[in-house]
Amino acid sequence: MTTDYNEGEVAQQYQQAKKQPWRERIEAYSFLRFIGDLTNKTVVDMACGEGYFTRRLRQGGAAKVVGFDVSDRMIELARAQEASNPLGIEYIVHDAREVALGKDFDLGVAAWLLVYVRERQELAQMCRGIASWLRPGGRFVTFTTNPDLYSFQPRGDYRRYGFEILLEDRVYEGAPIQWRAHLDDATLEVENYYLPISTYESAFRAAGFRDFQVRALELSPADDGVDDREYWAEFMRAPPAVIVETIKG
Ligand SMILES: C[S@@+](CC[C@H](N)C(=O)[O-])C[C@H]1O[C@@H](n2cnc3c(N)ncnc32)[C@H](O)[C@@H]1O
Repeated sequence: MTTDYNEGEVAQQYQQAKKQPWRERIEAYSFLRFIGDLTNKTVVDMACGEGYFTRRLRQGGAAKVVGFDVSDRMIELARAQEASNPLGIEYIVHDAREVALGKDFDLGVAAWLLVYVRERQELAQMCRGIASWLRPGGRFVTFTTNPDLYSFQPRGDYRRYGFEILLEDRVYEGAPIQWRAHLDDATLEVENYYLPISTYESAFRAAGFRDFQVRALELSPADDGVDDREYWAEFMRAPPAVIVETIKG
């Protein structure tokens, strides 16, 4: 069952889960570094959630930033933060599977959006929706669950980083990938779905994208200068996410 961010405490728990150290050391570091220079760019953050990356894109120098999410609860949380610390970000409730009219953004980013798509027809719909926000030549960069999770030998063990990933015995298109984050006083379960990288690539191509590339995650240097790569070795051996980039033709 797809995770509903409007339900119960899910939205608030997700905010807590974003405080786990790997989010900063690996997720944000890799994603923002790969996104690169934002100067003068118009940017749309798709599936922005409560605005974790949206705010950083604006603070990183983007000229205009819009964030959208299908969950009105997530957008409420994002707007509340915008109200207490205004950055000039517009947040809207919108489903990435819908085509948006009259948009011509330079850059679209999406952290953890494609992961909710279970089958090809829905993926095709989402790729058309994503394309509709971008100008020709516009770039789309997404952070997404690593489809290779199913082929790591042995499978990754992420418990020391505060979460687990539960997989089926065998892999098939649409197979669930269960993320279980261990928080201070709760456990947050989020369900993603497996699709092969070749399926993503052909769906983007069919929606008019070119130059599809997959990038590996990076670990940021530790703040205190102490070499802790050994602690992160298991994460980097079996990276649970990848970055995908593609350009609208
Ligand atoms: C794991 S959260 C990620 C939020 C944010 N990108 C981040 O990294 O903190 C996934 C978000 O995707 C949103 N989402 C799922 N399907 C969507 C869709 N079809 N269109 C827009 N947002 C969607 C959910 O509501 C949720 O807020």
